[in-house]
Amino acid sequence: MDTKWEKISREHIDEDLLREAGEIIRRGGLVAFPTETVYGLGGDALNPESSRKIYSAKGRPSDNPLIVHIADLQDLDKIVSHIPKAAEALAKHFWPGPLTMIFSKNEAVPYETTGGLDTVAVRFPSDKTAQVLIKAAGGFVAAPSANASGRPSPTSGKHVFEDLQGRIEMILDSGSCEIGLESTIVDMTEDIPVILRPGYVTEEMLEEVLCRVEVDRTILSNLSGAAPKAPGMKYRHYAPKGELVIVSGESRRVTAYVNDRIKEGAAVGKKVGIIVTDETIDSYEACLKKSVGKREDEAAVARRLYEILREFDEEGAEAIYSEAFDYGGMGHAIMNRLLKAAGHRIIKV
Ligand code: TXA
Ligand code: MG
Repeated sequence: MDTKWEKISREHIDEDLLREAGEIIRRGGLVAFPTETVYGLGGDALNPESSRKIYSAKGRPSDNPLIVHIADLQDLDKIVSHIPKAAEALAKHFWPGPLTMIFSKNEAVPYETTGGLDTVAVRFPSDKTAQVLIKAAGGFVAAPSANASGRPSPTSGKHVFEDLQGRIEMILDSGSCEIGLESTIVDMTEDIPVILRPGYVTEEMLEEVLCRVEVDRTILSNLSGAAPKAPGMKYRHYAPKGELVIVSGESRRVTAYVNDRIKEGAAVGKKVGIIVTDETIDSYEACLKKSVGKREDEAAVARRLYEILREFDEEGAEAIYSEAFDYGGMGHAIMNRLLKAAGHRIIKV
């Protein structure tokens, strides 16, 4: 299949092109599109055949449910069996935006889309291109992140092209995503809503609206032995080809430890990469150095992280060391993704 790769502008929506893209989805085809978090791989959420195609294009296990994207709050009612009061409150505050909520599904949503579950994940993205596309496609677009399964989520059209060219009909490319990490997922089917995946919308932000939310305890550790409630969280995602290790501790000790590893690597001709910050980058020995930006600018760190992991793959990094980040605010989501990419290898120095 020839994949049409269309560069588009965020400011001037090309209505004709989006109508064409919507038509592809209505006919059962797949279109990758930008959202404020990461690129999504869109198909008709109400068509079981489209969902099957999504799994196959990504090489994703079909027990891993898809998020249904809507572009009109009124449409939520058409796919869920009950909207709890708490969900109404969260929708009012955070939609459109980087929040996904899980509801009991109704019969309109096929089990192919929900990976066999009786619940459905729903998100109303704020990206204007995404909204126009969803409407053009009939209102309900199933979209996982538009990466090949096991690769970092795509934060640019180029990343999507690398992973999915020849497997989907079209890529709508508006450049880099604003946030760069996937949406926060909250399970609204429990009495007290539970965060299943941390993201831009933090626990503190949710608690300002709801008083109480819980956090799925499998999120930051792999030690509990319990299965994560978001099936996708159990897979080793976002894995770079080189072995990634997070090094945490006082800054000077981290630098010393990593510099020893860089020297060891150089001695045996091993390509070592490091993920560091603007403040520390000059303290490291020569190697494949990448800065995520200023340490306190967590938005910049989130935006850059996946791209860096992909760059290391391209440059053939065999071992990668990353500084650790604080857990406050979006730091929780950043460390969650980094730990998963590292297969939970973290060294305290
Ligand atoms: O920001 C995002 O959420 C992006 C953009 C494209 O919207 N999408 C995204 O989708 O990250 P995906 O498929 O890569 O991740 C969806 C996660 C998976 O971990 C999946 O298991 C979980 O959501 N999920 C989906 N439906 C669920 C459900 N009914 N119950 C529990 N977890 C669910
Ligand atoms: Mg994904």
